[in-house]
Amino acid sequence: MNNKGIDRQTLEELEQTAVRELGEASDIGAIEELRVKYLGRKGSLTLSLRSIGSLPAGERPAMGNLINEIKGKLSGIYSARLEEISANIGDPEPFPGDHALPGRVFSQGGLHVLTRVTRDIKEIFFRMGYSLAEGPDVELDYYNFEALNFPEDHPSRDSQDTFYVNRDILLRTQTSPVQVRYMEKNDPPLRIISPGRVYRNETPDPSHAAEFHQIEGLYVDRNVSLADLRNDVTFFIHSFFGPDVKVRFRPHFFPFTEPSAEVDMECFGCRGEGCSICQKTGWIEIMGAGMVHPNVFKYAGYDPDSVTGFAFGMGIDRIAMLKYGIDDIRRFLANDIRFLGQFWSGSWAGVQD
Ligand code: PHE
Repeated sequence: MNNKGIDRQTLEELEQTAVRELGEASDIGAIEELRVKYLGRKGSLTLSLRSIGSLPAGERPAMGNLINEIKGKLSGIYSARLEEISANIGDPEPFPGDHALPGRVFSQGGLHVLTRVTRDIKEIFFRMGYSLAEGPDVELDYYNFEALNFPEDHPSRDSQDTFYVNRDILLRTQTSPVQVRYMEKNDPPLRIISPGRVYRNETPDPSHAAEFHQIEGLYVDRNVSLADLRNDVTFFIHSFFGPDVKVRFRPHFFPFTEPSAEVDMECFGCRGEGCSICQKTGWIEIMGAGMVHPNVFKYAGYDPDSVTGFAFGMGIDRIAMLKYGIDDIRRFLANDIRFLGQFWSGSWAGVQD
């Protein structure tokens, strides 16, 4: 039976030709032409489908199926070829240089070790419910000393230790002034930590720098006790240095806390045996702390009879030195990338000279 070319055999021949042509087409233009020729609105397969109506009703479904099958197959080949040809476009010329030459490593940089340590410390206190407070580096004598209950003639007010801008303004020597600044603006209860840079007129040596970092903590509420201080400090030390290091409080003096203590932790290098990290004492001094002095509450405008609180302060540089076995505090600000790169994530930064 001859129905203007839409018999099975003609269709199969058409399919074979199309498959061959698609395989041979080598650029996008040729491929596109073939799509129009076979699959387009006026393409041969579309026309065949349209002329199906002229077949006897019984033959139409089978013929329709066949045409659609061929259409599907050709569309698949068309897409695959198009992708293949597109992928090859713009292939670079083969690299003309020496293929064996090692590539250059570009350093991506990373966070300063003190930034990392500060973040780790903050994270631990945030989990305990502390929030962040900050204060200025250039500070008033009033907040750095007077409101912290330093007597007029206290040795640390001496220009030996403090960089004064003028009689009233100085570079803060500690982060404790943030305590008073924060209390002036906020009512109790409060629980804050305050990291930042501090300055002292020191002659630099492996354990002293004129610029270093502290983190301050302050907790004020009704009935805050020394036991609460011990609890939070111990939780921090266990989280940061290890769950079973021993912690001890030694009586000390700070003008703005009473009672005051220095906090020691068991040396993690020798577990109390005595080694070079702890100078053979088995203990490492880690922070100053104490119960907020009533006079400080008065300066801040709190009633010392209705609230109590504790404060603590520690040196971030010192903590980083202990944790990573760094032998000289001056390295932190020396900007030597060979030192700093050791603390970046992943492998060593691969700095080349
Ligand atoms: N500011 C004290 C220092 O620099 C540390 C400290 C903070 C002590 C808070 C007690 C309470 O040494």
